[in-house]
Amino acid sequence: MEIKKGLEDVYVKETEITYIDGELGRLYYRGYSIYDLAEFSNFEETSYLILYGKLPNIYEYENFVKSLRESRGISDRVKEFLKSVKKNADPMDVLRTAVSIMGLEENTHTYNVSEQSIINLISKFPTIISYYIRLRRDLEPVEPDTSLSHAANFLYMVNGTKPSEEEYKAMDVAMILHIDHEMNASTFASLVVASTLSDIYSSIIAGISALKGPLHGGANYEALKMFKEIGYIENVEKYILNRLANKQRIMGFGHRVYKTYDPRARILKAYAKLLAEKKGGEIKRLYEIAEKVEEIGIKHLGPKGIYPNVDFYSSIVFYALGFEPEFFPTVFASARVTGWIAHILEYVKDNKIIRPKAYYKGEIGRKYIPIDSR
Ligand SMILES: CC(C)(COP(=O)(O)OP(=O)(O)OC[C@H]1O[C@@H](n2cnc3c(N)ncnc32)[C@H](O)[C@@H]1OP(=O)(O)O)[C@@H](O)C(=O)NCCC(=O)NCCS
Repeated sequence: MEIKKGLEDVYVKETEITYIDGELGRLYYRGYSIYDLAEFSNFEETSYLILYGKLPNIYEYENFVKSLRESRGISDRVKEFLKSVKKNADPMDVLRTAVSIMGLEENTHTYNVSEQSIINLISKFPTIISYYIRLRRDLEPVEPDTSLSHAANFLYMVNGTKPSEEEYKAMDVAMILHIDHEMNASTFASLVVASTLSDIYSSIIAGISALKGPLHGGANYEALKMFKEIGYIENVEKYILNRLANKQRIMGFGHRVYKTYDPRARILKAYAKLLAEKKGGEIKRLYEIAEKVEEIGIKHLGPKGIYPNVDFYSSIVFYALGFEPEFFPTVFASARVTGWIAHILEYVKDNKIIRPKAYYKGEIGRKYIPIDSR
């Protein structure tokens, strides 16, 4: 009997969605290199690819985009909930509960995934997140603009102004890079729920819950907190060496699968740099700190195969685009929801309830003693 702690190296299903080459630092969605998709595709087209296994033709693309744009609005019940939430709630808890209300409204009892629920989930995440962002800022929420693409509309609803071409491209690429990543913790969590043939909203809520943790989707928030804590570039070396000496982790570094530089971090670094140069000020300072953390981190952790991951530079990109750090994991979730759905659809087609075993090492045959005699 061998226990694979953390299910490391255990395969739970065959997949045709995403392939990671952790040794060479390569990532493919449905066989297409992430570098090509980041350069030539957009969030909507890549979502279609991930969900349906092929790039859409023009007719399929336009229909998909239209459905997404028309489904962005959120119900009055969800809006009322968002207005009622305290302003210091964890945004992932808020997103999770809003999705729970969506599930309640659709009244789905078991696994029965309609095209419209897929579209609803992908299209409404940004609306929920930006609505709550605006309320926290004591600003009027901004209704979705159907003339804008998914990523541009997201930024518009957050900031109240239409993004520049560079901001749009950075957001769109960041979203593409977060759509899927094979059998990560949140995808697995959503599959565990789906494998019981529970409804899709419950499965997605499980994904959100797992993504919230600082070892997974919460690492982008932790990375930015770390850059801010460092404060100035001169402090980097001492701070990192201190952290390593105290056996603390460098957030945004390390990965279960990649033993080299995460290709998503490579792409995002270029956008973080571009935005830092355009915006200057605090963004530029934080970017320079991140670059220095990267240098020192690789010097000490690189020999162990620990390099920057997606969360390292996405933190700077999301911050530069106007998101408060606490909201970074929700932005991650707004892209990853597509991957969760694709894996759920793929898994349930050949379903088997996920039910592993635990090796019992406690006592057996203990004698029950009544409470007043213990
Ligand atoms: C992602 C992560 C959870 C992967 O964990 P894992 O595959 O279970 O690897 P482990 O936690 O067993 O780490 C293996 C070794 O590398 C070290 N390590 C891993 N990530 C590290 C980091 N970010 N900083 C410093 N050391 C790190 C561990 O301390 C451990 O060292 P040891 O063997 O001397 O005890 C881990 O790298 C991590 O915690 N990273 C920081 C959080 C983060 O950025 N998460 C986002 C992932 S996309």
